[in-house]
Amino acid sequence: MPNKDNVQIAPAKGKLGVLVPGMGAVTTTFIAGLEAIKRGLGKPVGSLTQLGTVRLGKRTEGRSPAIRDFVPLAAIEDVEVACWDIFEDNAYEAAVKAGVLEIPLLEQLKEPLSAVRPMKAVFDQKFVKRLNGPNVMTGGSKMDYAERVMDDIRSFKQRTGVARMTMIWCGSTEVYHQAAAVHATLTDFECGLQKNDPEISPSQIYAYAALKSGIGYANGAPHLTTDTPALLELARTMNVPIAGKDYKSGQTFMKTLIAPGLKSRMLGLHGWFSTNILGNRDGEVLDDPGSFRSKEVSKSSALEYILQGQLYPDLYRDFYHKVRIEYYPPRGDAKEGWDNIDIFGWLGYPMQIKINFLCRDSILAAPLMLDIVLFMDLAQRAGMRGIQEWLSFYFKAPMHAPEIYPEHDVFIQLMKLKNTLRWMRGEDLITHLGLEYYD
Ligand SMILES: NC(=O)c1ccc[n+]([C@@H]2O[C@H](COP(=O)([O-])OP(=O)(O)OC[C@H]3O[C@@H](n4cnc5c(N)ncnc54)[C@H](O)[C@@H]3O)[C@@H](O)[C@H]2O)c1
Repeated sequence: MPNKDNVQIAPAKGKLGVLVPGMGAVTTTFIAGLEAIKRGLGKPVGSLTQLGTVRLGKRTEGRSPAIRDFVPLAAIEDVEVACWDIFEDNAYEAAVKAGVLEIPLLEQLKEPLSAVRPMKAVFDQKFVKRLNGPNVMTGGSKMDYAERVMDDIRSFKQRTGVARMTMIWCGSTEVYHQAAAVHATLTDFECGLQKNDPEISPSQIYAYAALKSGIGYANGAPHLTTDTPALLELARTMNVPIAGKDYKSGQTFMKTLIAPGLKSRMLGLHGWFSTNILGNRDGEVLDDPGSFRSKEVSKSSALEYILQGQLYPDLYRDFYHKVRIEYYPPRGDAKEGWDNIDIFGWLGYPMQIKINFLCRDSILAAPLMLDIVLFMDLAQRAGMRGIQEWLSFYFKAPMHAPEIYPEHDVFIQLMKLKNTLRWMRGEDLITHLGLEYYD
């Protein structure tokens, strides 16, 4: 049969290196999860790449292969992880401290987890006020740090023999800041690295090092990193993919499930109040107003974009939306979220919906991290460069082209993701029209 693929996808041969700045709750849950799955101690629940299928052709054809059989993805057995962190704990010790997974499971994984030791971090407390740690690079310019990260990447490749790499930020949320003059062009940015420009954050140094090494970069946190002209330019020049921002794991995931449903029935909204308590280190970092501001901005935009008040002024023009996160240590990683939704129906009669989500932050985020790195590697092998909007499904504040608005509706995002996979493999896109069944 002739190959009708729309893009040539290089095979997933050899090992995939996953480079992660930040080895806290999510990263250790991800690494421990991979090791547990390899040993048959658990299943990759929550991961579309591992458990999802993709329907092909007409409903009468009965073709629904597993996604991982349909497109060539790296296997979990072939993933090698390398991390940077400001603390010296190895992945076993960090996982015990994070308190997400139970000790008897971690004991069984102690050997592989203890072998993952964090490299020295690029860190600047101005960007994460509530943290400080000993395992950090010192005595250089920002450009020196970028070069040291590139050295780390090269040594990791040599040591492990990985064939390909992708980077994903899973470090703390940096304080809110906007693109400055130094982010305007790649030349400005490189000059800023040399001159230690205060507007260049640690996450941007890692991202620069990755992109400059020809490695894709995804952002699991909400702060500004590759969404600047300088780093977008670098990604395009180097032909590498970028994606972000901020894993859509808990409360915002719920929001983007419910809001499209209310809108589909033309039910109005007076207000949506979301609050949650969490007691892990992420909660502690977000207790700082600067870091919280990054999160607030990322969490706030979904409703406005989904409900489109400009098109439906009677229903969604003036709703009140508030998002709070409260640091409450006793709960650790077991976050509890509450949503109070004031809606209205026929003739404006008010109603309420309450959601009480007792979730586990890192249990929800780890499978997203796995899917993102496997799809980023796929994108890179398929020669897809720049912003990967088809991965919006995974993010609270999806990166998008400047002339379009971001797509937040989780159902549209999933359709877009699967249609992208179909498109890659030259299969018909699914429109759900379905008139042909009734001819
Ligand atoms: N868990 C979720 O559901 C979820 C959802 C969306 C976004 N996120 C984001 O993912 C990130 C990770 O979450 P987490 O719960 O694992 O947090 P965490 O606090 O447990 O881990 C973050 C780690 O990053 C390290 N770190 C901070 N700055 C660093 C730097 N410059 N270089 C290297 N390491 C650095 C910290 O020392 C810490 O170990 C956070 O930014 C969080 O906001 C998490």
